[in-house]
Amino acid sequence: MSHFDELLKLRDKQRQVAKKQPIVIKDTDVPWEENQHGRMKWFMHPCFDSAWNAYVLYAQQVDAGRKSGLQRCQGGVLFYGLDGKLKTKVNGELYEWGAGDLLTLPILRDGVEYQHLNTEKGAHATFLACEINTAHSLGVDKGSGFEELQTCGQITEKDLAPGSGLRVPVVTKRTDAPATLSSQYDRDFQRWMEIRGRYETGNLLVRGSDMSWEQNRMGKVCYYLNPQFEKNALRDWTVFAQDIRLHTGKHVHQGGLIIYVTEGEGYTVCDGTRYDWEKNDLILFPVKPGGVEHQHFNTKAGEGCRWIVLFYWPWWEEVASEFVQMQLHPDFH
Ligand SMILES: [Fe+2]
Repeated sequence: MSHFDELLKLRDKQRQVAKKQPIVIKDTDVPWEENQHGRMKWFMHPCFDSAWNAYVLYAQQVDAGRKSGLQRCQGGVLFYGLDGKLKTKVNGELYEWGAGDLLTLPILRDGVEYQHLNTEKGAHATFLACEINTAHSLGVDKGSGFEELQTCGQITEKDLAPGSGLRVPVVTKRTDAPATLSSQYDRDFQRWMEIRGRYETGNLLVRGSDMSWEQNRMGKVCYYLNPQFEKNALRDWTVFAQDIRLHTGKHVHQGGLIIYVTEGEGYTVCDGTRYDWEKNDLILFPVKPGGVEHQHFNTKAGEGCRWIVLFYWPWWEEVASEFVQMQLHPDFH
């Protein structure tokens, strides 16, 4: 068999997997596991035989008085708080955050060391974690190495001592900055230094309480990350919360984005078929020619019904996704 034939065979196999891929992944169908890093529930994983595997997505829960594993990774991970409060060490900084907040890990040359601590009394904390799946392209290690430096466990006094467990931030050498920008090589050099600088100094924590809601043609939404938000370290993502009071508008775009239900219950009409969902379910539209026409409904109009949406712009550019608005939101004027 030629390598070209292998490619066609892989395509056909992926088409068969796509036919069986559910639109809604029920929270109750995804088991919790206890591992070195803590209690985790994997919705999307590099080793899963899924039709759309562009992201790694899991929920993690940290009980009161406990800490997650201490991990080093390349960065580029997004954590969205679902309930409770956490203190998270990210290299040299400690971030206090919780439900409705978004904490991100920058992408740094020597990676990021991070650990979640729950110092609340009697209340667990749960969050959703998402990153792009590059395990088969850049490797699980990526550039920095992927290491579990300490396993999860009970918080000790040592963990809470000032500066304890906090890595000294890596300072990038800038002595080799280009003297002039007369060549494309040096202009590339300059651009790369600007990108690295953004990851080193950009904003990592976006608090839900600081954000404002907008009513647009599709619905009532609140943006956390967007490529046009210049202060954030991660610029290639869009993350927004959506409040579905009655129903959304109807539009068409390519699938593959993450829609995670954070409150209430409802249903989605996707290419003419109804799919029901509730809190903690994942909605995952297929990637297919022409994209997906869809509209979302709150089954208990007037009661809370919300979700969080995450997507990585370069993936959408790769599939030439477009937006076509088929029907306006009833509150848009
Ligand atoms: Fe949509």
